[in-house]
Amino acid sequence: MNIYKVLPDLGNERQMKLWHKALRVQWSAEDLDWNRPLGVRARNLKEKLARVLTPVLMGEQSALYSVSAQIPTLGHHSEVPAQFYLTTWAVDEARHTELFARFYNRLGHEPLSIRKFPAGYIFQSQITAKDTAEWLSGVLVSEVLAKLIMEEFVRVDLDPVLSDIAHGILEDEARHLAFNHLYMEQRFYEVYEKSLEEGREAASFLRGKLEHVLSYAEPLLEAIGGELEEMDIDWRKMLASAREETTERLERSIDRGSRVADGSRVLPTGAT
Ligand SMILES: [Fe+2]
Ligand SMILES: [Fe+2]
Repeated sequence: MNIYKVLPDLGNERQMKLWHKALRVQWSAEDLDWNRPLGVRARNLKEKLARVLTPVLMGEQSALYSVSAQIPTLGHHSEVPAQFYLTTWAVDEARHTELFARFYNRLGHEPLSIRKFPAGYIFQSQITAKDTAEWLSGVLVSEVLAKLIMEEFVRVDLDPVLSDIAHGILEDEARHLAFNHLYMEQRFYEVYEKSLEEGREAASFLRGKLEHVLSYAEPLLEAIGGELEEMDIDWRKMLASAREETTERLERSIDRGSRVADGSRVLPTGAT
């Protein structure tokens, strides 16, 4: 056990606000009405949906592991508000894992095994990193991909339970992405304040991490591309949107953090 300060510093108001919000909006798989008839009838479409959801369930479980692993890391660095928030992020990913595990029961089909879907496993293993900012730069790809695929599930509305799951996850993902910005902006502010050179180095390293993870997203989507197309989901468009959105999000964090450090932007209140 590592406790460096008995009284934790809870001064980061922006992270504390997000933590309180996350506490208030928790929900459960038990809140959904699982007794509604399955919207997908044809056996062959059920099998296709089981394939398409494989990387989704893999992503939820990987997120549960990686978020949980970051919780003690933040504690070691006395980043207690971020540590608080991540406890809710872990709960979110546990809920998502349960939702899809139960959805597979509803479908009556199994996900693909890791042996049959190596691209999904390889993609997830690129994300892991000990440093929180490095991990956040990689996990940004899977979070944005999850958001894009949930938006598509809402649009195509294959099944009422799946649409409810997708709606709920979209709310949760919005908080995960909000935390990503808060944390990354602060990290860039801190390194750019040390020196411009260190700031630039960190930015280029984290851009590299993002690019690296992105390069593994294409084989992952391509492996289920035919099934997605049959569900009227354009995976190439989704990949392009993921690239554009993740890059734009990381650049925004770099820009905001570096401008606070050079004095052209005021540090938002509560970011300590
Ligand atoms: Fe999730
Ligand atoms: Fe997430």
